[in-house]
Amino acid sequence: MVQALQGGLLTVSADCVGFVFPMHYFGLPLQVEEFVEKLSISGCPYIFAVATCGVPYWGRPFMDLEQILQKKDCTLQAAWYWRLVSNYIPWRDLAAQWRINIRAWLAERKLVKICVAVKQRKLHTTWQLLPKFCQGYHEKWRQRQPQIDESFVCDTARCTGCGLCERICPRQNIIREGGAPVWQHNCVECLGCIHICPVRAIDYGEKTQGRKRYRHESIKPADLLLR
Ligand SMILES: Cc1cc2nc3c(=O)[nH]c(=O)nc-3n(C[C@H](O)[C@H](O)[C@H](O)COP(=O)(O)O)c2cc1C
Ligand code: SF4
Ligand code: SF4
Repeated sequence: MVQALQGGLLTVSADCVGFVFPMHYFGLPLQVEEFVEKLSISGCPYIFAVATCGVPYWGRPFMDLEQILQKKDCTLQAAWYWRLVSNYIPWRDLAAQWRINIRAWLAERKLVKICVAVKQRKLHTTWQLLPKFCQGYHEKWRQRQPQIDESFVCDTARCTGCGLCERICPRQNIIREGGAPVWQHNCVECLGCIHICPVRAIDYGEKTQGRKRYRHESIKPADLLLR
C-alpha cells in the first residue's frame, strides 16, 4: 500500500479484492485510509478485509473501511480480526516467548479458516465493540499525529548509522544527521523504526526503555525495507 501510494491513481479490476492491515488505535492506520480513498475498484463482486490486531473486537476498523468503500459504490462482504502479537510496546512489553509461540500457532489456524472462507466467497461479519468511544479515541490520536515523534529519542552512542530506520519508514519521516535519525513530524506511529533498529538505539521516550522488540521469526529486516 505504501509503495502504491507513491504512484498515481490506483485501479483494480478483479473478482475478489482483499484488504489486510493492522488495527491502529481501534481503527485504520492513516496510510491504509489514504490507500483505500485513492483506490478505484471496478466490477468486484467480493471484497473482504482482515484486520491484524493485539486485542480483537474492540474497535471499528471495518466500519471505517465500509464508509470509504460505500463512497465508491462498493460493499464489504466479509471481515475478520486476525489476532497476532501486538507490537505496541509503548503500552506494554511483549509477551513471554512461549505465549508468542502459542499466539503464532493459533494465528496459523485462524489464517487457514479465513483462506477457506475467502475461497468459498463466504459472507462474514464480526463484532466491533464500543464504536463511538473507539471513534473518539481514534480521532484524538489522529489530531496528535504531528507531535507523536517528539517523544522519539536516539541513543547516539549506540547508533551505528546503519540507516535501517530511515529505510523502513513509510512516511519518509526520518533523515539522518551524523548517521543518527532525526524525525520530521510526519509520523504515523507504525513503530517500524523502533522495532527494526538492530542495536535498540531508538526509544519512545521512557515508555519503551528495557522492553523487547519484535519481528516474526520468518521475516528478515530486508523484507520490510521500503527503499
Ligand atoms: C500505533 C499502534 C496502535 C495500535 N492500536 C491497536 C488497537 O487499537 N487494537 C489492537 O488490537 N492492536 C493495536 N495495535 C497492535 C497492532 O494492531 C498489531 O501489532 C499488529 O496488528 C500486528 O501485526 P504485524 O505483526 O503485521 O505488525 C496497535 C499498534 C500500533 C503500532
Ligand atoms: S514510527 Fe518510525 S518508521 Fe513509523 S512512521 Fe514514525 S518515524 Fe516512520
Ligand atoms: S536503525 Fe538504529 S543503528 Fe541504524 S541508523 Fe537507525 S538508530 Fe542508528
